[in-house]
Amino acid sequence: MKLFSENIEDLRTLYVAGLKKALDMEQKITKALPTMIEKSTDSQLAAAFRNHLTETQGHVAKVQSLLREATGDDSAGTCKAISALITEAEDNIKDAADPSIRDITLIASAQQVEHHEIAVYGTLRSWAELLGQDGAANTLETILEEEKKADELLTAISDTVNTTAETRTAYSARA
Ligand SMILES: [Fe+2]
Repeated sequence: MKLFSENIEDLRTLYVAGLKKALDMEQKITKALPTMIEKSTDSQLAAAFRNHLTETQGHVAKVQSLLREATGDDSAGTCKAISALITEAEDNIKDAADPSIRDITLIASAQQVEHHEIAVYGTLRSWAELLGQDGAANTLETILEEEKKADELLTAISDTVNTTAETRTAYSARA
């Protein structure tokens, strides 16, 4: 895409607003993950959430440094989408009594969050490229790849957790 000079300032404004929302998103995920670790019964799932908490703390630091580079200030914006996804995840956890069903809902909620993060960082990386900010684009690509790997790991774990839930459902149907 070719940008005209008058569009560049508008895109820069959007990019900074997007980074500020991404920072709020990561800070809210940092606060939500400890509950998800605590509610997980599958040890692989708990380990994946623990690992992603460490990665998410890294994402907070990376986005803060991109904001400082872009504006000299690293204050966060407001990401309404992540608040809605976290509220929905909390409701799903409350509704799931059986531990393996709870694990399934935790994975589903976490994947919705990951897909949102993948969309956010894919957009921010493209905008950084359009603005000619190659260093920022590389940092955003690194975060994007970690989000994609976290999503893929959740898909792999869901195969074993889903099998456990199916076995339990079949067993209780026979009993
Ligand atoms: Fe993240």
